[in-house]
Amino acid sequence: MPEIAGHGRAVVEFQREVYETNFPGFVATPQFLRDYSQQLRTALDSPAEGMFVLQDGRETVGFLWLSLISTMIDPCIGYIKNIYVVPELRGEGYGKLLLQFAEDWCASQGVSRVSLDASCCNERAIGLYEKWGFKTSRVRMEKAIEPRTPVDGSEESGFAEEVRRRLSARLD
Ligand SMILES: CC(C)(COP(=O)(O)OP(=O)(O)OC[C@H]1O[C@@H](n2cnc3c(N)ncnc32)[C@H](O)[C@@H]1OP(=O)(O)O)[C@@H](O)C(=O)NCCC(=O)NCCS
Repeated sequence: MPEIAGHGRAVVEFQREVYETNFPGFVATPQFLRDYSQQLRTALDSPAEGMFVLQDGRETVGFLWLSLISTMIDPCIGYIKNIYVVPELRGEGYGKLLLQFAEDWCASQGVSRVSLDASCCNERAIGLYEKWGFKTSRVRMEKAIEPRTPVDGSEESGFAEEVRRRLSARLD
């Protein structure tokens, strides 16, 4: 599969759909797309990153971004950062082809595990990953909160006071 050089513009344009469907409410601004483009350029120089495209003639119809990462329990695992097939070609097996390629690339880098993150709302992608043998190993949980800006440290001292109050109540 060809590497990304020369396909950057199409790949960046794909991200509008990737991010706006996987992160409901998110809007891919021009600045976001510029930042993404910069990340792609930086990653191109890294031996720990592999970026590939699916090509149909002169057209870019898919994208795969792979990475070697370390975690607290694994010094090196493969990570699928981005997988994309243009809407017109979905359901024809290209997603599976990209996953097979991802596995082969990761294995050729000497790693024995591949991971990825998926949004719960993306049933199609999750269906594909499960069919391909991926299992859910951890679940990321989120909760929206109201941000507050402490003005003079009074927020912290209020919290500290509450902790002290509870601890002393336990000791009484
Ligand atoms: C995810 C994506 C790459 C899949 O590509 P694809 O070419 O359609 O995938 P395939 O044709 O190889 O596989 C389709 C598989 O998806 C699953 N699938 C399809 N529709 C589904 C649905 N509505 N619900 C659950 N699973 C579904 C099936 O397992 C299907 O396999 P099958 O045809 O053997 O039944 C593509 O949908 C895409 O680019 N989405 C936008 C980008 C994105 O969200 N990427 C994932 C970020 S985590």
